[in-house]
Amino acid sequence: MKEITLESKIRVCQKDELPDDERNLVELAIEATANSYAPHSHFHVGAALLLANGKIVKGCNQENAVLPAGVCAERSAIFSAGAQYPDQAVTKLAIAARAGDGKLTEQPVSPCGICRQVMVETETRFQQPMRILLYGETGVYVIDGIKELMPLAFTEF
Ligand code: THU
Repeated sequence: MKEITLESKIRVCQKDELPDDERNLVELAIEATANSYAPHSHFHVGAALLLANGKIVKGCNQENAVLPAGVCAERSAIFSAGAQYPDQAVTKLAIAARAGDGKLTEQPVSPCGICRQVMVETETRFQQPMRILLYGETGVYVIDGIKELMPLAFTEF
């Protein structure tokens, strides 16, 4: 039997080491945590994305008593961008989160599986990988495209 090893490349840096546009995006994702509606989990997530036309769109998680009716910050931002600028590729996406104590998470916040699948389709749709910036107080993960986080993704549609 043959074995296949899948590798992901993630770079780690401090927020201040990022280029201006990426640091700005991370700061906007942090800012977006303030608009999160998370009375059920008390986990407030913010996202900010940069489009090919230079526009920035923010999102945050929106929860509901019927839990599956809620939406994550990443999808809130991506779907909002799709609604406003349907022909613009997402080039960069930053995510940050505050836990119940109101503090930004120590570790970089990681997108859920459903959001990863949506990010896969967004990249496929626009034929452009998006740089993903996952903020944590201890460092920022910089990831060059969702394939690093979602190898062997389903794209047959
Ligand atoms: N959540 C996000 O918005 N994005 C993530 O990357 C992880 C999880 C939300 C969903 C739910 O509102 C809360 O965080 C707790 O899971």
